[in-house]
Amino acid sequence: MNNDNYSIAIDGPSASGKSTIAKEVAKKLNIEYIDTGAMYRALTYKVLKNKIDVKDTQGVIEILKNTNIDFINNSIYLDGVIVDKEIRQNIVSKNVSYIARIKEVREILVHLQQSMAKTKNVIMDGRDIGTVVLPDANYKFYVTASVDERARRRYKELLDRGEKNISLEDIVADIVKRDEIDSNREIGPLIQAEDAHVLDTTNRTIDESVDFIISIVTGGS
Ligand code: DC
Repeated sequence: MNNDNYSIAIDGPSASGKSTIAKEVAKKLNIEYIDTGAMYRALTYKVLKNKIDVKDTQGVIEILKNTNIDFINNSIYLDGVIVDKEIRQNIVSKNVSYIARIKEVREILVHLQQSMAKTKNVIMDGRDIGTVVLPDANYKFYVTASVDERARRRYKELLDRGEKNISLEDIVADIVKRDEIDSNREIGPLIQAEDAHVLDTTNRTIDESVDFIISIVTGGS
């Protein structure tokens, strides 16, 4: 690894562990972590709060045009207010795929993500980072895990947050549905970049997954 600006792209389905792993890698390498899913979530949160139908494309675009999304000290700011917790609510997870498949939304947010990566060393996670946002990223990883394992993780995370009225079966169904929407949309679908290293976290600890990435990045392969 040399001293020039570099970028690490991490893609994969929801609850594969990519955000947790990326955050830890960022800390160890002392680089900036950009959670692009959080940006789509923040917009979804605002749309829901404003009682706009998530399928009302024009309504969603209008909201986005008057929205400011930024990261400061690893917190996400929506119009100047931290919304780290709010964007993780189950209601946001259930609706975000509808927002993320709107072409104009993707264009605007991809542009914003690209400008965030221009001047700094970054590790960025999402669905289309290695393929669309940063096709020239120095390192690309595709992080995945079985549907059951991902559902168990999401279920535990929601219980830990104090969410009620959730069932594991519902979470499995949500994950399958979200995978399908994310993988089959026309623009920026979730696909593995040809030059990505695959990291299956089903039977790996977080530390093992972090080490996998760091060893490739610092090993220069
Ligand atoms: O990674 P996550 O679960 O927080 O992502 C939330 C949603 O945003 C997910 O349904 C897919 C979408 N997303 C996207 O379409 N493109 C990205 N780069 C990141 C997330």
